[in-house]
Amino acid sequence: MKRTRRTFVKNVTQASAIVGLGGISSSFTAKSYSRIPGANDRIHMAMIGTNSRGEALSAIFAKQPNTEVIFICDVEEKARQKGINSVIKTGATAPTGVNDFRSILSNKDVDAVYIATPDHWHAPATIICASAGKHVYVEKPLSHNPREGELAIAAARKYDRVVQMGAQRRSWSLLTEGINALHEGAIGKIHLVKCWYTNNRKPIGIGKETTVMPGLDYDLWQGPAPRRPYKDNLIHYNWHWFWNWGTGEALNNGTHEIDVARWGLGADFPTAVSSNGGRYYYQDDWETPDTQLITFQTKDTTILWEGRSCSNLKVQGTDRGILFYGEKGNLQTGHNGYTIFDDKGIILKDVKSNAVIDGRNAASPNEGLDAVHVANFLESIRLSKRPNADVEIGFRSTLWVQLGNISQRVGRQIGIDQSNGHILNDKDAMKLWGREYEKGWEPKV
Ligand SMILES: NC(=O)c1ccc[n+]([C@@H]2O[C@H](COP(=O)([O-])OP(=O)(O)OC[C@H]3O[C@@H](n4cnc5c(N)ncnc54)[C@H](O)[C@@H]3O)[C@@H](O)[C@H]2O)c1
Repeated sequence: MKRTRRTFVKNVTQASAIVGLGGISSSFTAKSYSRIPGANDRIHMAMIGTNSRGEALSAIFAKQPNTEVIFICDVEEKARQKGINSVIKTGATAPTGVNDFRSILSNKDVDAVYIATPDHWHAPATIICASAGKHVYVEKPLSHNPREGELAIAAARKYDRVVQMGAQRRSWSLLTEGINALHEGAIGKIHLVKCWYTNNRKPIGIGKETTVMPGLDYDLWQGPAPRRPYKDNLIHYNWHWFWNWGTGEALNNGTHEIDVARWGLGADFPTAVSSNGGRYYYQDDWETPDTQLITFQTKDTTILWEGRSCSNLKVQGTDRGILFYGEKGNLQTGHNGYTIFDDKGIILKDVKSNAVIDGRNAASPNEGLDAVHVANFLESIRLSKRPNADVEIGFRSTLWVQLGNISQRVGRQIGIDQSNGHILNDKDAMKLWGREYEKGWEPKV
């Protein structure tokens, strides 16, 4: 994506044409022209989903130089207000609150969107926004299922938009230094990578069908997902544990560690994946595993992800992490830094940053480290370059863990096609490559 004045004009024209298809005016006002990145490099953001993660990132975006958050979109009134307040607290002008993000996509003032909705909306919203000419920062996981991830790549490429997934570790300088050390052979050939995530999540009970929470547009909240009745133990956050909207702890947190493991190994697709586990701790509505071991195989490396949602004994002194076992030593990371040690546990190199990270803070474990990934997204828009966690990187890392969940759900090991990550010779498993949509909501590129 080489940036020239001509490609910039072409991109703007293309985007205008797309939005024009919907019968929406493509004329530019002097004010909207001044809001085009490249005209004065100022980037105007719309935030989509601002209850928790989106609330935290609204402030981070608002604090970036030459960046303005002009819309806060959320289908729930209180969450919308949280996003607006979060921007105001930074000293910036109050953004406009909006229920339906689709209503602002014809607005040429919006250059880019940030998406922190529940997972079932991630790829559909990415596709809708990229098709309307907006650059997209979408939270992990890239998609609810692999097919949507493929469509998100297609949309990003077709409309030539920057699409960054919220795998913020890709922008952490000292973690990157550790990955580079692996690539330079610091611990020799790697044959095992162990990743873990631990927490002490409480039961969510048995939900009661009840009237929808005041101020919530539940129909739009469900959007592409097949309709299910509203229950009182679903919103906010607990949707993570229901397959209709969420993707379980594996995608909720495992995506981060698997992304780093994959990066360290330079691996595109595993050759085989298997998963074991279940919802063991409580009898409630929670559907996804609270205890899960996913094993990935590549040509000469085995990768293990251990997820414990309800058992928080740390591993190697940390509540989450990644440990690479090499022929000449071992490297542990997960934070912005890394430690290399020998087989006796003697530390050979220890690189640390001063940043404090609270691994169990769901919204923003470390604001400064989120900001560098946000800055990389904005810089990528300005320079028309691929971001650190480009949509294709996001697709692969998300896919690995999705394959783990597919193996878990069909109850057997699955083999993987090395050309595209698809599942080999298993029709039932391949059925989970996509999903059913609510009629009229199927994503299209
Ligand atoms: N990168 C990270 O480290 C990180 C950290 C936390 C969360 N996340 C991700 O961020 C996402 C949000 O997580 P959360 O904890 O804030 O969830 P949450 O349930 O607290 O908030 C989601 C918000 O999205 C809103 N929403 C739903 N549909 C919408 C729509 N169509 N348009 C606008 N808003 C809509 C909801 O009303 C809610 O306010 C998740 O996918 C999660 O995986 C990433």
